Amino acid sequence: MSNEPIIAPSLLSADFANLGAQAELCIANGGDWVHFDVMDNSFVPNLTFGPMVCKSLRDYGITAPIDVHLMTYNIESLIKEFAKAGANTISIHPESTAHLDSCINLIKEFGCNAGIVLNPATPTNSLDFILNKIDLILIMSVNPGFGGQKFIGNSLNKIKKVRNIIDKSQLNIRLQVDGGITLDNIEDVAKAGADTFVSGSTIFKSENMKETINKMKDLIRNTY
Ligand code: DX5
Ligand code: ZN
Repeated sequence: MSNEPIIAPSLLSADFANLGAQAELCIANGGDWVHFDVMDNSFVPNLTFGPMVCKSLRDYGITAPIDVHLMTYNIESLIKEFAKAGANTISIHPESTAHLDSCINLIKEFGCNAGIVLNPATPTNSLDFILNKIDLILIMSVNPGFGGQKFIGNSLNKIKKVRNIIDKSQLNIRLQVDGGITLDNIEDVAKAGADTFVSGSTIFKSENMKETINKMKDLIRNTY
C-alpha cells in the first residue's frame, strides 16, 4: 500500500448540537479528515445536514479536509454548493444520478477530489469507465443510512478486489471503507487493502477518543 493511512471520523455519530466543537475535538485527537454524511430521506431513509452546515464548520475554524459523502438524489446542485461551502472531497453513489460521468467532471471542475461509492451490492464494474477520473473509491461495509451498524463481512472480498483494480491501474486512488469499523476489525480492513477509514460510533462513543484513534492507527500500521 502506497498511501499513508487516513482516519476520517464521521460526524453522523457526533453531538449535532455542538458540531463545530465535535469536529475540532476529533481532529485534535488524531482524526485526519472530517467525514460529512449527507442524507436526504429519499436515497437513504435518514436526514442529516447540507452545505450550510459544512460552511458553518469552515466559519467556526475547521481547517482539516472535509470529506463529503453524498447519500442523496439531485446531486448536481449539491456538488456545486458543497464545493463552495469548503468540501475537499465529494463522494457520490452511481445509483444517485443518471449522469455519473458529468457529475465527476463537475466535482473536478470545482477543484474537489472525486470519490465513487459502492454500496454492498453494487458491482465493481461500475468503476470500469471512470477509474482514470477519480481520486477515491469508497466501499460501503454497511447499507448506508445509519451509524452503529454491523460490518458486513463479505466487504473484505470487495476491498481486496478493488485494491487489485487500483494497483493494476497504477493510478493514485485512495481506497476508503465506511461502516461498522471497530478496533476488532480495522486490522482486517487494512490487510484487505484499505488506506482510508471512516468511523463514526467507535470514535465518538469511545471514552477516550485519542486513545481509540491511536489504537486504530497502530492496528493499521501492524499490517505494513
Ligand atoms: C452510513 C455512513 C457512515 C456512518 C459510519 O451511511 O455513511 O459514515 O457514519 O458509522 P459507523 O462507524 O458507526 O458505522
Ligand atoms: Zn459515510
